[in-house]
Amino acid sequence: MQNKNSSQSLALVYVWSKKIRLFHWLNVLCVFLLITFGLIILNSKALGVTSDGKVLLKTCHVLVGYIFCINLLLRYVLGFFGTGFEKWSATLAFNKGFAAELKEYRQGAQKAYQGHNPAGKLMITVMFLALSIQMVSGLVIAGTDIYYPPFGGYFKEQIAIDSTQVELIKPYTKENVDTEKYKAMRDLRSPFITMHVYSFYLLLLLIPLHIAGVIYTERKEKSSITSAMINGYKTLPKD
Ligand code: HEM
Repeated sequence: MQNKNSSQSLALVYVWSKKIRLFHWLNVLCVFLLITFGLIILNSKALGVTSDGKVLLKTCHVLVGYIFCINLLLRYVLGFFGTGFEKWSATLAFNKGFAAELKEYRQGAQKAYQGHNPAGKLMITVMFLALSIQMVSGLVIAGTDIYYPPFGGYFKEQIAIDSTQVELIKPYTKENVDTEKYKAMRDLRSPFITMHVYSFYLLLLLIPLHIAGVIYTERKEKSSITSAMINGYKTLPKD
């Protein structure tokens, strides 16, 4: 392939595997739905949502949350056991020599990158951190709020007056619930809610930054990074 402007030879290079692309777009879809449900939950009082409505919204949020968690966990597996650009060393900003890579990037020494450029690695590292916080805190609050797996059964047993009848405990009802133990559970949950909300705000900041970074890099490197996340191929200088 020949670049018209510079007459430099270009090659199509296969960079993103099917697994990476599937993870990326499923993650985008899940995060979009989780943010939408999350915003409604956060503003449920102002929107006049009833108690039953809230339980329904939280249930939908948690069900999408499970898909999000499984997808993210599979990405962890790829990071450790995958090949090429699936590996953590090609994804996160912790690889040996990263500081030198970043310096070189800031000096503009390298024109294009096969995988992520160092700025992209930094962004993705912070994003994975925020997504992981959402996963862990989400699973804990799903257990303490609507008693959903993996921790719901455990918390029901903790707060039950009669532990042989835990099935009587339902979200937002007091039947078979020990008030003191319920309060202790809510206290335990409180820092997880704080984490969930702050990490959500962090994601609201990171997502537009990520999109801006992609647009900037697309214009600077001209290596079709957006379509590469669809078909897997980047357009890179042959050398
Ligand atoms: C990118 C991922 C996620 C985002 C952006 C997100 C966002 C939010 C937001 C904004 C709220 C409202 C907070 C509040 O009312 O104080 C919320 C609530 C909640 N989230 Fe998530 N969430 C995510 C992932 C998850 C996951 C993976 C789960 C569990 C599987 C989960 C479970 C819950 C539950 C149970 C609530 C209700 C908490 C409550 O208000 O009582 N979330 N989420």
